[in-house]
Amino acid sequence: MQNKPSYFFLVALVLGISTISCQKSMEDSTVIDPYISWESYRGDEGRNAYSKLDQINKENVRDLEVAWVYRTGDKQSGTLQCNPIIIDGVLYAVSASMKVFALDAGTGKKIWEYHPAGNGEEFVAENGISNRGLTYWEDGDDKRLFYCVQNELRAIDATSGKPIPDFGNNGAVDLRDGLDRTFDKASAFIRNTSPGVIYNDLIIMGSSLYEAHGSLPGHIRAYNVYNGELEWIFHTIPHPGEFGYDTWPEDHYQIGGGANAWGGMSIDRKRGIVFAPTGAPTHDFYGADRKGKGLFGNSVLALNAETGAYIWHFQVSHHDLWDYDIPAPPNLVSVNHNGEATDAVAQLTKQGYIFLLDRETGTPLFDVEERPVPQSVMKDEETWPTQPFPLKPPPLVRQHFDESLVTNISTEAQENILKQIEGYTLGPIYTPPSINGTIQLPGFLGGGEWSGGAFDPESGTIYIGVNEIPNMVQLVEDVPAFEVRNEFEDMMVFGERVYLKNCASCHVEDRKGNISYPSLIHVKDSISLNEAQLLLKIGKGLMPSFQALPEINRRAVLAYLFELDDQQAVELLPLEEAQIVEESTQQNTGKRYKLKAYKQLRDQFGYPGIKPPWGNLCAVNLNTGEIEWKVPLGEYEELTKQGIPPTGTQLFGGGIVTAGGLIFIGASRDEKFRAIDKETGEILWEFQLPVGGYATPSTYSINGHQYVVIAAGGGGYQGTKSGDYYYAFKLPED
Ligand code: HEC
Repeated sequence: MQNKPSYFFLVALVLGISTISCQKSMEDSTVIDPYISWESYRGDEGRNAYSKLDQINKENVRDLEVAWVYRTGDKQSGTLQCNPIIIDGVLYAVSASMKVFALDAGTGKKIWEYHPAGNGEEFVAENGISNRGLTYWEDGDDKRLFYCVQNELRAIDATSGKPIPDFGNNGAVDLRDGLDRTFDKASAFIRNTSPGVIYNDLIIMGSSLYEAHGSLPGHIRAYNVYNGELEWIFHTIPHPGEFGYDTWPEDHYQIGGGANAWGGMSIDRKRGIVFAPTGAPTHDFYGADRKGKGLFGNSVLALNAETGAYIWHFQVSHHDLWDYDIPAPPNLVSVNHNGEATDAVAQLTKQGYIFLLDRETGTPLFDVEERPVPQSVMKDEETWPTQPFPLKPPPLVRQHFDESLVTNISTEAQENILKQIEGYTLGPIYTPPSINGTIQLPGFLGGGEWSGGAFDPESGTIYIGVNEIPNMVQLVEDVPAFEVRNEFEDMMVFGERVYLKNCASCHVEDRKGNISYPSLIHVKDSISLNEAQLLLKIGKGLMPSFQALPEINRRAVLAYLFELDDQQAVELLPLEEAQIVEESTQQNTGKRYKLKAYKQLRDQFGYPGIKPPWGNLCAVNLNTGEIEWKVPLGEYEELTKQGIPPTGTQLFGGGIVTAGGLIFIGASRDEKFRAIDKETGEILWEFQLPVGGYATPSTYSINGHQYVVIAAGGGGYQGTKSGDYYYAFKLPED
């Protein structure tokens, strides 16, 4: 249990109750069974990807045929992760280049299209940034869609596809504003790949951030749906006086990044609680400069949806060093726990666990043990001594890597992998990263991923696709960005560039600093040149060391700050090493590390370096905490032909489960879309898509016909060919 004292919970609960009455009118007007429509990401606001539709069932699914195909027409390749929403017979979705489009959901005919670049040009899709869905809101005839393009939250009229002029600045709100921190806006990176959630007149947003040093904080914010005004902010890296502040170094709130909810959120409207799963604090793989448990990184957060006030949290990994972001929104489930109907949240993790937590208190329904874990060998790192291990359900993936697990699909592959892992540390889950290298299993693409889980409320079973591919993790020193001096350039001019690249993020471009960082305008009067030289080498407090910057860069920036001419800059005395060593024993050496490369353990042919299976579909009964079945999903045909049983492949894109007894899922690298018997895991139907369907499908009914639709965009982490398709299926009409 890691909850805040109950006093805070009571306060929040009282606030929560007080919001129920004012939200009632809205609820009454939209009293549709959430499991019949698909108006929200993953079907409903509990993100359960479940549908009561049962026209397509186990008996007739083999007759399923293509109803329509829509091509987005994007010229560039990208990937599609979008889970379409369907409102009043109109399907809304997003293309790889971030076009939004509305289609007649029965025919696939285009109604309108919104181009984010605004000038008719195709917007350039950013590598690794893909939209997972739109958020819909309505008030009478005012119908809006929300999604993010680069650093902007945009509002579009759902009827016309035109921007909403009175939302933010002509339809857009800059997510870089209102983060309660000063930073260099030009180089700040903030995106949002998952849709926000609606609560009354608020849209609540998480964010996607860089995961390296210097990234922004992942504060959760709510904006007014009418005008885009910021209504509340919850600091996921707490400020002084806020609960959790003391789980970081002092003043870390001024520089720490990450702890962001990128995987989407769920909302319990009746209770007025929004559930936000957060990612790792940054830097993902190195935490010497963020010592402590690091709340609210890697946590399920329950917040009062009206005010943003803290209700409870549950941290799934402390002081993360493995990029174990919580990748998907928690499923809001009702389970039969020890004979009692209990509302809970089921949080899937990259580690391959499902944490089942009481919806109102965050208390685990099945016991969770804090167990000792391996400690880092990095000099300044302070690994958290324990991590939480749920006793039930069992982990869905292997969580220990050693030589006995090296691939056995061929002798060549086996030899190749044994060679690659020479010198690497092998071991259990939570073996920390090192300079020599560590094999990490589960890897940082899961276990679970953003694909999330599909929960069947009838049986209490959740269906989850999981990956089992290790990562090769190796740390290297994180060297600051250095500049190269142009020929004949004055040291002062050169120094200004060095300053803008390395110093302006704190001391501000105009050198005037702010509340957190000193002004450097009159630095000459404040410290000597020699002291400044030393400071740059060894750092002090929150000022990092620039030891790793080339000497010429350090001299140039001093020339800029102290107004030195070239001769004076050259004549600067080389500092006595002895003096540095002596001083640096008391000072922050500021040496930082980062990941050498994002790399999976794969053999010379590209197959995962671990014994299959590489991707499984699992059915887990949340009433009992037992795994019901587990089957490999996807295959490499050429391996099957050699007599190797289907290996399963890496999976991206969730499944959905229906009252027709079926799971629909794409996700696998073999580019097939499948219908699976939810009781047994048996494949009942499959369809070869032209490119991979790495997205979560949706299902809906129009004029008495049930449809299933999936985006097929290929590409992405799977590295298969790209395309621009949305495929809809239905039964033949007779
Ligand atoms: C991460 C934020 C950060 C960055 C980046 C940063 N500084 Fe600083 N700097 C600080 C802080 C905080 C202090 C105050 C340190 C203290 O006294 O505890 C400081 C102090 C200084 C001082 C001493 C000022 C005085 O009046 O005593 C100088 C000079 C300085 N920085 C130069 C630089 C230069 C040059 C760079 C780029 C190469 C740089 N800083 C980059 C945070 C930063």
